[in-house]
Formats: sequence, structure tokens, C-alpha cells
Amino acid sequence: MFEQLKLNKLSEQHLYIQLYQKIKEMIDQGFLEEYQKLPPIRQMANLLDVNNVTVVNAYKLLEEEGLVLKKVGSGTYVAPLIQKIDREEVFIDDEIQLMNQGQLSLKQNVISFATATPDPDLFPIQDVKTAINHVLDRDGGEVFGYQDSLGYQPLREAFRNYLATKNIDSSVKSIQVVSGAQQGIDILSKAMLNPGDVVFTEEPTYTGAISAFKSRGARIISIPIREDGIDLKILEAKVEEYQPRFLYLMTNFQNPTGYSYSSMKKERLLDLSQNYGLTIVEDDSLSELYFTQESFTPLRAVADTENVIYIKSFSKIFLPGFRIAFMVLPDSIIGQVMAAKHTSDISSSGLIQRTFDLLLRQGLWEKHIEGMRQIYLGKYQLFVKLLTEVLPREVKYTLPKGGLNYWITLPDGYSANQLYKKCLAEGVIIIPGSVFYPDGRPNNMFRLSIAAVEEAEMTKGVKILAQVINDFLDGENVEDTVAFTPLM
Ligand SMILES: Cc1ncc(COP(=O)(O)O)c(C=O)c1O
Repeated sequence: MFEQLKLNKLSEQHLYIQLYQKIKEMIDQGFLEEYQKLPPIRQMANLLDVNNVTVVNAYKLLEEEGLVLKKVGSGTYVAPLIQKIDREEVFIDDEIQLMNQGQLSLKQNVISFATATPDPDLFPIQDVKTAINHVLDRDGGEVFGYQDSLGYQPLREAFRNYLATKNIDSSVKSIQVVSGAQQGIDILSKAMLNPGDVVFTEEPTYTGAISAFKSRGARIISIPIREDGIDLKILEAKVEEYQPRFLYLMTNFQNPTGYSYSSMKKERLLDLSQNYGLTIVEDDSLSELYFTQESFTPLRAVADTENVIYIKSFSKIFLPGFRIAFMVLPDSIIGQVMAAKHTSDISSSGLIQRTFDLLLRQGLWEKHIEGMRQIYLGKYQLFVKLLTEVLPREVKYTLPKGGLNYWITLPDGYSANQLYKKCLAEGVIIIPGSVFYPDGRPNNMFRLSIAAVEEAEMTKGVKILAQVINDFLDGENVEDTVAFTPLM
């Protein structure tokens, strides 16, 4: 069968992409069966009269997409259908299903490394109370009238000024106020997506975005994220193949991995976006929570381009329940987005918008974020120490330089869904990586968040976690889960 494969050496498309596409087609159309072995690299290269590297790269792309499995020392095999391998484990636990729906059930007396929102004790209640009273005295009944769907004009001006301090050029007319970044993602999806449209995300990615895109019937193609940002090689190959409506990403302290894009990657991503006309939706909820001297600029600050839609949330480090965020939009979609916002809730609350406007203008936001950086720096330092000293050496992670999330990888073959259950039994909650994959694929990674855990609990929690992992690795568990070995 492989003898009939032909690549077009005169085509502008890379040979490895052509090969990847041809094998993918053969798998999709059922010409290749589950567990069927692909020809070894050298044999395939000879058959096609191409370089070994061409075959290596094509197999790698197939592997990244979960279409083939590599068995060390044995070769490359067609992967079993994802639905088949997942069915048993995806539904391992109602709790994980709930997480897939963006919910986490709260249990008493557990140490939660799952919650990624700040401890309510850190909310600046007094400042907010004073600001609300001031707004009510100042604006009276106006506060409770319907507001402009684009947002309260003075707040949009305050956001423009705030953006200028981050080196982001914008105009008031391009700013849409939303009731949280989640609503921003949702109304963008309403405005921009039709059923069957392709959306790219990082893999893994934020669950709320997965749900919003799915709710519009979009097809999600996820591209692996590396420690310095999305894999550009795979992205480029897939952009050519799928021509997505947009790429959704988080450039700083990504959720769930905590990874941040390097400056070089941001530049190259912007070039790629320019070359292919690729729209990027940049979701920024944490870039101000950094713990080193490095600056963590958003993509939108690197280039003033219509290709980047910027969503800024204040929930993660301010008041999640305040439901305030904004988007900077390109001219071409302002009208559709405003209409989608109107359809969703007409406008964001007047009281909240006016209060936040006052807090911003009085510099209270800056003061608050400075205080949060101090508090979270202490937590960060302790957590890093605990991870380094207490977690077993078999687990791997890359320490983030800010944000709230840590992404931990178990050795190959161990399922984080299983680990989640074992941790829960010992009173510690983690979030298994499957929740952050658009197809819910079980894997060996999990997220820890330090947002809401106190320092004393943190020490206790990491010690318990380390013990559970040690027992897990010492047990027979790898036998149970070998079918779910992640492909990366
Ligand atoms: C990456 C990301 N985007 C958006 C949101 C939702 O933010 P908001 O509370 O502003 O709706 C979250 C919340 O966890 C998030 O992690």
C-alpha cells in the first residue's frame, strides 16, 4: 500500500507535510488499521526517494496529533481510535466529568491545589465599599439604568489609558467592556464562528474556552505548547492545512501550564500571523503577576496589529465575582461583537463598571496588584522550594516565573486521572490534565494552583501529594494505564 504513495517534489508545500497529510488520509479513510505498523523511517524514505528527516518530521506530526504511537525500539504504529481508548478512563469519575464542564465541587477539609482564584480574604473590600458609595452618591439612579452595550464611556477611556501604560496602543472605539473574560471568549465565538469552523488552541488549554468554542459547533484543533510557547512548526503546518478562524492563546503564565512565550517566539508568531492572515485571540489574565525582574509583555504590546484581539481580565488577581474585563477589537468585527454582547446581556452592570472606573482612576488597581505580587511572591517561593525538595524526582515540571499554575508530568504510562482519585482519598485536590484537552484524552499530566491555598496547608498538601505519587509509582498502576501513555 505504501508503494503507491507519491509526493510532489515541485509543490511549494513541504514534503513532510505532504507525507503527513497522505498518511492521515489513509488513517481517516480506514486504509490503515489500528496498531498497524508504519514502515520504518529508512524504508519509507527509500520508497519515496526522500530524506530520512522528511519521514521523521511527518511521523512526528502524526504523533503530535495522536494519530500514531511510537514504541521505543519497535517502531511507529497507527493509534487506536481515541474514543475506544478513552471511554473507560474518561468516565473514571463524576468529578472529572464535572471539571470538564468547568465545575469543581467544593469539599470541606481538603487541601485544594485545584482552585485557581484568589483567597477571598485578599479582596480589597474596604476600597471597593468606599468606591461604590462614592459612585452612588455621584451618579444616583443613572447607575442602575441600561448602559451602552460597548461599555461605560469613561471606563473605556480609563482602559485605553491603562493600556497605554502597558505600551498597548488602542482607541476608545475599539474597546468593548465585557462581564469577565469568559463572556469575552463567548461573545467572540458568537460573533465569529459558524458550526464546523476550525479554531486553533494551545494544547493543553483553558477549559472555559474549549466549552465556548464547542458550544458554537466549532472544530477545535489543538497545537502543543512548549516551555517557550506554542510549537510554531506544527502551527504553520496546520494553518496551511485548516485555515482556522482564529488561534486562541495565552502568552503569559498560560493556564494550565504556567508557560510564557519567549520574545523570539512572540515575534515569530506575529510574522506567521501576518504571512497567513491568521487572527490571534490573546487572553491575558495574569501577566501582571510576575515574580522576577523579567517583563511579561502581551503579544498585543509587541505589535499594534489588527490581527490580534486582546482580552484582558481582572478576575484572577482582583475580584472574580466583580465580572469585569475588556477586549480590544479590530475595526472589522466591532459591530458583530457589540451585537453579540447585546444579545447576551445587553450591557455589563453600570454599578460595577462605574466602580471599577473609579478604582482605576484612583490608582487603586495598581496599588492592589502591587500588594498581590508581594503576597504571591511569598507563596511562590515556598511552593517552588516544596516542589524541588519534596516531590519525587521521577516527576517533571518547568517552574513558571509568575502566575498561579504549575504543570507536573508523571512518568510515561501513569494516568493523572488515577492520581487525582488517589489524592482525593487523602484529602488533596489536583486537576488532571485530561480536563485541559479538547478531546478529554487521559494523560500523565496535572495542574497545581497556588491561588487559594494557605502557606501552612501548602506544606502539608505537597507532602501528602509526594507520598501519594510515591505510592502510585511504586504500585502496579502502570499496567492498568499503559494504553493511555501520552504521545509526547
Ligand atoms: C485563561 C482564562 N481566561 C479566562 C478566564 C475567565 O476569566 P473571567 O473571570 O474574567 O471571566 C479564566 C478563569 O480561570 C482563565 O483562566
